[in-house]
Amino acid sequence: MNVLGLVLSPRKNGNTEILISEALASAEKAGAQVEMLHAADLSISPCDACGACMAEGICRIKDDMQIVYEKMDQADGIIFGTPVYFLNVSAQAKAVIDRTYACMMKGRLRGKVAAVIAAARRVGAGQVLSLMYSYFSAQRMIIAGGGVGYGRDKGEVRQGPGMSPMLSALEEAQAIGRNVVKMRNRIS
Ligand SMILES: Cc1cc2nc3c(=O)[nH]c(=O)nc-3n(C[C@H](O)[C@H](O)[C@H](O)COP(=O)(O)O)c2cc1C
Repeated sequence: MNVLGLVLSPRKNGNTEILISEALASAEKAGAQVEMLHAADLSISPCDACGACMAEGICRIKDDMQIVYEKMDQADGIIFGTPVYFLNVSAQAKAVIDRTYACMMKGRLRGKVAAVIAAARRVGAGQVLSLMYSYFSAQRMIIAGGGVGYGRDKGEVRQGPGMSPMLSALEEAQAIGRNVVKMRNRIS
């Protein structure tokens, strides 16, 4: 089983990356092969609404999203990580989301297990989780849940709480990694 973690923050070694790394380490412990892609290493343009993908399900923009498409195709589970920017996902996350319009045409993400982890200083993570659940649902993905890590400066999520009153941010990220693997095992 392959689990892909997407760090959709422009910051290297930031809070989103810490949480996604934690989730992937836990998925690996549960038996998955894991891989992480970081938006800071990729150049991904926004969707330009050319409509070319509507016929073939293939995006004609030849940038690093082609790497993401390939890894998404290979993945059984995908964990999306985004910082909260103005109560929403990051621009990097939105570019990836919109470019998967091409995937929707042929159901390329259908049946894959999906989860989201948001890094926030203070407000808006709940909205981001709701948005992402709607996106997963539009793509006919199977939702394994979501989590939040609170912190502003790099590394602050290591000390911060998660969304659950019982768990720290790191414990919540670990639980998400495990849940993606468990859910995938249940349905296969
Ligand atoms: C442009 C911008 C907008 C932000 N908007 C919010 C916000 O609406 N709510 C919030 O809680 N934090 C907000 N933050 C703080 C980040 O979500 C927070 O620092 C997060 O931990 C960053 O994750 P990263 O280290 O992976 O980049 C914002 C940060 C930036 C740069």
